[in-house]
Amino acid sequence: MHAIVADIDRPARELAGARGLIISGGPASVSEPTSPTVDPRIYALGIPVLGICYGHQLMAKDLDGRVSRGVAKEYGHSSLHHGSSPLFRGLPERDLTVWMSHGDTVSDAPAGFTIMGETDDCKIAAMQHVERRLFGLQFHPEVVHTEFGTEIYRNFVFDVCGCTTDWDPRARVEQVMEEVRAKAAGRKVFFLISGGVDSTVAFYCCYRALGAGRVLGLYVDTGFMREGDREAIQHLVHEAGPEAIHVADRSADFFRRLAGVTHPERKRAIIGDTFITVQEEEFARLGLRDDEWMLGQGTIYPDTIESGGARHSAKIKTHHNRVERIQALIEQGRVIEPLVELYKDEVRVLGEQLGLPHAVVWRHPFPGPGLAVRCLGSEAEAAVEPAPMPLPDGVSGWIVPVRTVGVQGDERSYSNLLAVEGFADAEAAGAFARRITNEHRTINRVAVVAFRRDGRGVGGLAIRPATLTRERVALLREADALVTRVVRQHGLYDAIWQFPVAMIPLGAAPAGETIVLRPVNSRDGMTADFARLTPAVLAELATSLGRLKGVDAVLYDVTNKPPATIELE
Ligand code: XMP
Repeated sequence: MHAIVADIDRPARELAGARGLIISGGPASVSEPTSPTVDPRIYALGIPVLGICYGHQLMAKDLDGRVSRGVAKEYGHSSLHHGSSPLFRGLPERDLTVWMSHGDTVSDAPAGFTIMGETDDCKIAAMQHVERRLFGLQFHPEVVHTEFGTEIYRNFVFDVCGCTTDWDPRARVEQVMEEVRAKAAGRKVFFLISGGVDSTVAFYCCYRALGAGRVLGLYVDTGFMREGDREAIQHLVHEAGPEAIHVADRSADFFRRLAGVTHPERKRAIIGDTFITVQEEEFARLGLRDDEWMLGQGTIYPDTIESGGARHSAKIKTHHNRVERIQALIEQGRVIEPLVELYKDEVRVLGEQLGLPHAVVWRHPFPGPGLAVRCLGSEAEAAVEPAPMPLPDGVSGWIVPVRTVGVQGDERSYSNLLAVEGFADAEAAGAFARRITNEHRTINRVAVVAFRRDGRGVGGLAIRPATLTRERVALLREADALVTRVVRQHGLYDAIWQFPVAMIPLGAAPAGETIVLRPVNSRDGMTADFARLTPAVLAELATSLGRLKGVDAVLYDVTNKPPATIELE
């Protein structure tokens, strides 16, 4: 069997040959007239249909049930009390932890449907019409936080739809290489490589598919790289030969073009654009002819979804690989992206199958725009304010007037961070973060104060105007390298999926900074849990960072994604 992604409004007659259909989630509300719709005749095709989140609501509406506009939005973990269903075959009878992210809810199931799952906040979290093989789930089985999510899909695909497995993931390498050869059609590929997992695997894939002399990698030092990034490309030099890899220090161009810019989307647009300019200039400098070459990129599937690339998904962040000038090249058929259909974990499997070393394949993901999107700026000066909402006993909280990106109800938010002190442990702070971001749309991130230079909380601190400067980025790079060292010393590097270290211009002194620790666990970057640091590790990180000149405070972000994104901006 194989799966295809069809546009939601594909006519029913074109879908009639499918074994089953899944209607996915999305940010829209079924009560808006402009929202995506399915051809309602799909429910009468006699094939199984599974609606997820928005798809569940759409099914309810189309079959004359009722959907109510959400009063409180629900995000995060919930307990599902569930009954019997072909979808839940083989699952434990106890409550299951499921991942919710929605505003609207189904308030009346359509006639003939039974309800086989509810949570405290959602009475119709799962519904079915077993004879017609129609199923709706309000929660998201595809995210790692839903227990047995994969089993639910397996039950639908294999038991309900009757599909069989005839696909071997080991065939992936050959298939991806074949696609590269077909797409390149005799042309050569020019790659910008960063030392990160995606660009390395993509480069190596093209190199293996097309052979020496047809792939050229350029490592651009943007000024926003991590300590050790340059060294990380050495194995590519070793494999592909020094003539296949060039290095260019273009940090002056990047800093110049980003001077004074603070908005994350502007930063990404400028960085993406500068990458293209640099690529064009280096292209000319190296004497490469346009029609012989195409641009290779390590774009992976989640990058395209969060850029709003799948037609009905909301734009959370514009990936730097999807800025306008790249889009134009894509339309001309001059971009090759061997990993564009893969998730991060699949990219790693592919990398291992290609024979890349463990340390390269399991390096923490690092965003293309690098430290530029981890070094936050501010245009205005503003003092932190005591949190206006009631807090648990013994807890203090402050609104930090810096905006960070989040994703709430499948939509982008750009709101404040709440710094807190006084929770017994990270678990309690994390539970509070889930609740408060559900109740207050103005907050999308909660961080625990782990260090404050004079031990007085963050109450007296202020945000000051700041932008991207070499000095600030150098301090962040030092902090980042220090965190990596401590994490490695404790044997935690492989246990944490990614550990962004960010910096915000929050301090007591005129140039004081706050370092934000953002360790997360995830499978593919689409959703994430904040990673639990033990008090001992956190204390060691806080003390070591506190020794850096210019660091006034250290925060530990305890928010999941959603409602916060992994990176702060
Ligand atoms: P967010 O912050 O969107 O991050 O939750 C999800 C994953 O994507 C990475 N990321 C990026 N990678 N260019 C990239 O190459 C970008 O502009 C970008 N923004 C976020 C992030 O590090 C995380 O792994």
